[in-house]
Amino acid sequence: MSGGRIRHAAARLRSWLEERVGLTDLLELVRKKEVPVHRHGLWYYLGGMTLFLVGLQFLTGTLLLLYYRPSANEAFESVQFLMTKVPFGWLVRSIHSWSANLLVFVLFLHMFSVFFLKAYRRPRELTWVSGTLLLGLILAFGFSGYLLPWNTLAFFATQVGTQVAGSVPVVGGFVLRLLRGGDQVTGGTLTRFFAFHVAVLPAITMMVLALHLYLIQRLGMSVPPSVEVEHERKGTRPRTIPFFPNFLLRDLIGWALAVGVLAALAALFPWELGVKADPFAPAPAGIRPEWYFGWMFQTLKLLPAHVLGIEGEVLGVIGINLAGLLLLLVPFLNRSPRPGNRISRAFTLLGILALAYMTVMTVLMYVLPSGR
Ligand code: HEM
Repeated sequence: MSGGRIRHAAARLRSWLEERVGLTDLLELVRKKEVPVHRHGLWYYLGGMTLFLVGLQFLTGTLLLLYYRPSANEAFESVQFLMTKVPFGWLVRSIHSWSANLLVFVLFLHMFSVFFLKAYRRPRELTWVSGTLLLGLILAFGFSGYLLPWNTLAFFATQVGTQVAGSVPVVGGFVLRLLRGGDQVTGGTLTRFFAFHVAVLPAITMMVLALHLYLIQRLGMSVPPSVEVEHERKGTRPRTIPFFPNFLLRDLIGWALAVGVLAALAALFPWELGVKADPFAPAPAGIRPEWYFGWMFQTLKLLPAHVLGIEGEVLGVIGINLAGLLLLLVPFLNRSPRPGNRISRAFTLLGILALAYMTVMTVLMYVLPSGR
């Protein structure tokens, strides 16, 4: 086909789509978005990086689905087959597992950065609330995915994790049976976790993510209070760059780097499979969850058996739930985040303490002997 005819066909396709989809409106929407440029601008890349890694999880997860079998008799063997016989199966599984960890890490960075920059302040309260829900959903992806290879470590970690969830007062028993599909962790639990991991969680995540992204598009990127005050004083406004294509192209560089890092990690340290779970075997020593549940695990472990007549573990679980609720309510509790405001400063301090606490507890999980 000659160049002229190709151009003609492309123009016809464009006008066909224009009439039906409204391409110009869509492009207008993307072109309208501007990203402020200032000294804290680097943090703006973290949300996009999180989004990219979520996309990568959906892609690699779908590929794993082609071979995975969700039953106690076949799960371990199907993953073993994938790792040893399927061309590049080991690569896809290793990238899925490494990328899940990187996703949670970047997600925490994103959350703490918007927290410290007070990006949740009016009118972005619902952006924060939808983000907190996404955090819960991503952690649930991690928890449910961990069991799927049906290996010893995952089996016993799930037993501990679900038992902890079961110790929540009032609803604990119901939650435990909902998660396990009975009183014990069995093949039924595996099938259930599979359904959560590949159907329930993706469906809810898509909806909440759509809301998060819609709000970001609608409200634009926030400018941190300290930068805002400086500009107010000078009577200026922060410089901006167009999101499309300038900012997106910078995002792309970060995403390409992430793929490089993940491919290197997968090639140098392929994700291990371990030993097939035996529900009748005694629990091996050193059972611990993924690092991102470490601070909760270690907190529960260090609590005394009883505090003021209440079981230590129950108290710990209540505390962790209250911390989650506090996180959700942050924008409604700190409503005047101008620099120098007392409440706002207290929130910054609380954030630093929370970060320090989580880091110390996670390190302790790895360095303390497993009996402590
Ligand atoms: C799957 C998880 C998530 C994805 C894919 C995601 C994605 C994004 C993207 C693409 C942006 C715009 C760029 C940026 O500011 O970095 C953003 C902004 C934002 N996110 Fe998230 N996010 C997620 C989780 C969270 C969490 C856990 C929180 C907090 C609890 C949160 C709170 C916010 C807020 C407040 C903004 C607005 C920032 C501003 O206007 O300056 N997000 N998110």
